[in-house]
Amino acid sequence: MAREKWTSRWAFVLAAIGSAAGLGNAWRFPYMAYSNGGGAFYVPYFVALFLAGIPLLMAEFAIGQGLQSSAPKSLGKIRKGAEFVGWWAVITGALITFYYNVIMGYIFNYLYYSFGVAWKEDTSNFFFNKFLQISSGPGELGGLRWPIVIGLALTWLWIYFILRKGTQSVGKTVIWTVPLPVILLLVLGIRGITLEGASQGLNYLFEPNFAKLAQPSVWANAFGQIFFSLSLAFGIMIAYGSYNNKKSDIANNTIITALANSATSYLAGIAVFSVLGYMAFQINSPVSEVAKGGIGLAFVVYPKAISLFPGGVFIQSIIGIAFFVMLLTLGIDSAFSLVEAVEAANEDKFKVNKKAFLTGFSIFGFICGLLFATQGGLYWLDIVDHFLGIYALLIVGILEAIVIGWVLGAENLREYINSVSEIKVGKWFNFSLKFIIPIVLMFILITNLIDEIKNPYEGYPIWALLIGASLLVITPIVAIVLSKIPSKDKNYYKRVEKITVEGGE
Ligand code: PHE
Repeated sequence: MAREKWTSRWAFVLAAIGSAAGLGNAWRFPYMAYSNGGGAFYVPYFVALFLAGIPLLMAEFAIGQGLQSSAPKSLGKIRKGAEFVGWWAVITGALITFYYNVIMGYIFNYLYYSFGVAWKEDTSNFFFNKFLQISSGPGELGGLRWPIVIGLALTWLWIYFILRKGTQSVGKTVIWTVPLPVILLLVLGIRGITLEGASQGLNYLFEPNFAKLAQPSVWANAFGQIFFSLSLAFGIMIAYGSYNNKKSDIANNTIITALANSATSYLAGIAVFSVLGYMAFQINSPVSEVAKGGIGLAFVVYPKAISLFPGGVFIQSIIGIAFFVMLLTLGIDSAFSLVEAVEAANEDKFKVNKKAFLTGFSIFGFICGLLFATQGGLYWLDIVDHFLGIYALLIVGILEAIVIGWVLGAENLREYINSVSEIKVGKWFNFSLKFIIPIVLMFILITNLIDEIKNPYEGYPIWALLIGASLLVITPIVAIVLSKIPSKDKNYYKRVEKITVEGGE
């Protein structure tokens, strides 16, 4: 059976941008920036983008497209023993959806609360005590929070319907879910910078604290953020590339995707920080005081700023709705892309019927997500995000770069990319894949590990951190097991020495 194809080039590019531009841009990027040196964070950020992000994104598009295969199959075609790396990527991505969708569930609730600005008395109390009813720590799960469970269910349903008809239904979705959040960010940003005090917030965002650049953790966060933000090392971009025609342009599409993603982060930074500046001005405190907390930014700080907006409850409700619709539509393309990477891997190897697989996986993901929808869920969300979002990403990224750069050969891939692309890629590509990515990521991994052992993550109990860290052992084992199960497809292991436009599958 012929592989399904994107309905147009733009369906592919929008889907890729949609996957890249997600909650990470609005919810992770600003707090990464302000906790890692403010404006100075742009230095490691852009270094990471050009040194590692763009080359690896290009490589992922290229192997997916050139081999017409999902991540495990692509890597398995390069070398049989490398298939597990693809599974590891996909499994990590699957785990990430389990909690990413819980955050989507929070957003659904906050969209509802926007009508009438339900949080206005005290946003922090509202979020932690009324909404989450947060427990004392990860050891106390407490009960399920039903509003979150409902939001989580809505998110999975939505994903199911978007993916049900594959690239066709995805193509129809991304036409509006990708531009809409950008338009809303523009609206929020313009309103933001016209508020009194906005410039203080922007100063805070852009004002560099270069001393921070001496800390390895800042660099690790930048690379982690770039990888997370470009949805790399989860097998997504490989799966998306595989629905392209073998002759599709690669270099151009990569650059458009990467720059559109960074532009969205930048825009989000402005939309968020201008409002933080306004808020700091209103309550008469420095921006550094209000720009606190991780996930709290989207659910505590920004809502608080909304409740201070001029124009009364009606205008505040509208701003709230705009903000949470923006987050929902920003996040949904990322959420379903993770699921699509898993689906593509299933389709290639196990060939379980697509709808049956999606139904089963959605239910499974929903059930696993319930852990994060408990009263202690946010602690676990934070712990799992810490280990997967930084460590699993780094390790899978290193392995992937080695398999593509050394085993397949970066030059081999570069020739293929250049044979189909308008913009020609120079030898720097090889250098990046073979040396820069593995070495830099390895360095970051090691320094970060040392750091981690010296100062374990944010004062959680050790046993909880060990459970989080154990995912880094369990996931590769599951990946190896999956890679050992024989495929129903006889061609699955047909090795490919050289990727060319002409060659069949
Ligand atoms: N890139 C998405 C973001 O920035 C997050 C994401 C990560 C999505 C991994 C899919 C896979 O929010």
